[in-house]
Amino acid sequence: MITNRFAGRVAVVTAGASGIGLGIVRRLVAEGARVVIGDIDKEGLKRAAEEFGTHVTPLHTDVRQEADIAAMVETAVTSFGRLDCAFNVAGMGGGGPVLGLSAEEIDAVLSVTLRSTFLCIKHEASQFIAQGSDGAIVNIASINAIQPAEGSASYNAAKAGVVSLTQSAALELGEHGIRVNAVGPGLVGTPMTRSLTGNPAIAQAYRDATPLQRPGRPEDIAGAATFLGSDDAAWTTGQTLYVDGGQTVTGYPRLLRLFEQSNMKMPKIADQD
Ligand SMILES: NC(=O)c1ccc[n+]([C@@H]2O[C@H](COP(=O)([O-])OP(=O)(O)OC[C@H]3O[C@@H](n4cnc5c(N)ncnc54)[C@H](O)[C@@H]3O)[C@@H](O)[C@H]2O)c1
Repeated sequence: MITNRFAGRVAVVTAGASGIGLGIVRRLVAEGARVVIGDIDKEGLKRAAEEFGTHVTPLHTDVRQEADIAAMVETAVTSFGRLDCAFNVAGMGGGGPVLGLSAEEIDAVLSVTLRSTFLCIKHEASQFIAQGSDGAIVNIASINAIQPAEGSASYNAAKAGVVSLTQSAALELGEHGIRVNAVGPGLVGTPMTRSLTGNPAIAQAYRDATPLQRPGRPEDIAGAATFLGSDDAAWTTGQTLYVDGGQTVTGYPRLLRLFEQSNMKMPKIADQD
């Protein structure tokens, strides 16, 4: 059910041009928000501008660059007058098994997935405090924070970091009326997971491991994320809500052997969209 929880409110959404981020933007706009979409995908930003018109400001934002994050927050103020809530979605999968990881691969995953979340929280919370309002921050973690995927140690560790950071930020920012929570999705069908959902054996292994027997959709995650970003969650902070069709109550598919059985290599960062 779509209500009007974000009428008159202003949000920023990183990685909002695709997948889960785009799902969150759709739900926010449907509920009355105006949104700055930060992403590095120029074509995706153009498509978002066409879909949402004056409800959004698309902005080229590389979350690896602190100046870009600061500019995204500033754009919410210049475009729409203030900032009420923030959805830090950007993250990067892949990496590879621990034994073969290069320092550059570790840095790449940590930078987009964890370091960016630190910097986003810093700039978003500073804006809430500067305008003298409370605010809500929602980070996108993953079930891999607590149920690691084989061959993705840097990603698993980065997402565990996002869960811990969510708690630390909630602890420090509560006195300002700022809530910080996270959503931990299970497997969601997006460009990022095409190598998993597009492989019949692997897709079946995920279905077997998921009590609700289907991959998630971006709108499944958007429902939980907007709940945490809304007044419905006014007394909820420091929490990670795992939204996964029940997957965390079973086991995680053994990805390395599944790829091997399909005569395929698990993609590394460079192979992913
Ligand atoms: N899809 C899943 O199964 C799943 C599960 C758990 C967590 N997540 C997390 O959800 C988030 C979104 O993933 P998705 O599945 O929607 O992926 P997606 O591939 O659909 O979208 C990723 C978006 O991030 C943008 N992006 C990449 N690098 C960026 C950067 N440096 N700065 C700004 N934007 C950048 C891309 O341009 C793209 O628009 C990620 O943090 C991911 O780790 C996804």
